Amino acid sequence: MTSSYGLRGRAAVVTGATRGIGLAVARALADAGAQVCVSARNADEVRRAAAELGAVGLAGSVADDGHPSALTDLCLREFGRLDILVNNAATNQPYGPLVDADPDLWREAFTINVEAPLRLVQCAWHGWMREHGGTVVNICTEGATHVGPGVGAYGTSKAALLHLTQQLAGELGPGVRVNSVSPGLVRTEMARFVWEPGEPDIASGLPLGRIGEPEDVARAVLWLCSDSAEWITGADLLVDGGTNVRRANTRDRYHLPGA
Ligand SMILES: NC(=O)c1ccc[n+]([C@@H]2O[C@H](COP(=O)([O-])OP(=O)(O)OC[C@H]3O[C@@H](n4cnc5c(N)ncnc54)[C@H](OP(=O)(O)O)[C@@H]3O)[C@@H](O)[C@H]2O)c1
Repeated sequence: MTSSYGLRGRAAVVTGATRGIGLAVARALADAGAQVCVSARNADEVRRAAAELGAVGLAGSVADDGHPSALTDLCLREFGRLDILVNNAATNQPYGPLVDADPDLWREAFTINVEAPLRLVQCAWHGWMREHGGTVVNICTEGATHVGPGVGAYGTSKAALLHLTQQLAGELGPGVRVNSVSPGLVRTEMARFVWEPGEPDIASGLPLGRIGEPEDVARAVLWLCSDSAEWITGADLLVDGGTNVRRANTRDRYHLPGA
């Protein structure tokens, strides 16, 4: 049996890759030998991340009309190929109860968290993967399959991303594998409002006794992108320290401020 996480000779696009999970994923792919193309909105941060990783970068929002094609074109122009796409960029605003959801915030959640990943897959498929194959990983969330106070728009958009993952896996095989990784609570800026006030309590309630670090998620993404996962598509990999088990056993919920 052969097993390889090596990605030498492959090229990858990672969105939202200047901090948190996206930066850790981009670093893991680069360390495994891939050439990496990163994006985020803040141009200075994109330059900093690209320099740190030896990557190329493009500043912009995944929601901007021309960004998905500009990003995949950059990867194809610089590296001559696009084997791996990691849809990581997302938004998670304080949405409040869905019944009072602000239509603009709702639309933004779906534009960034669902439509942009699809558009990036379309660009990667037509630009490279249809002919040469490839692999896509969508970063979802452990919360996509649960209801939670105040996070309804985010959760609903991520549930749609889960479905999108399976639909695309069905459509794009056998050449292209499409999977998702669903993190539990990870120590990043996006989730600071949850873990900063409550980390000891949250961690002590988890089977593995701690919240996640971006590298926990990055290792799972690296594995799914590698040939070691060559017979896996349409799957969602929970990387949550056992959060889901705790939920099933106790029906506990995070206590989200403003919920
Ligand atoms: N942290 C958690 O506990 C957790 C749990 C479950 C799932 N997730 C998922 O994990 C992924 C990464 O989250 P994170 O916690 O690492 O977030 P983070 O630390 O806030 O990092 C987000 C990254 O995405 C970029 N970004 C944000 N909006 C963007 C946009 N519209 N277009 C392009 N880039 C954008 C940010 O840079 P700019 O601000 O410069 O654009 C940054 O590089 C997300 O899909 C999130 O839903 C996180």
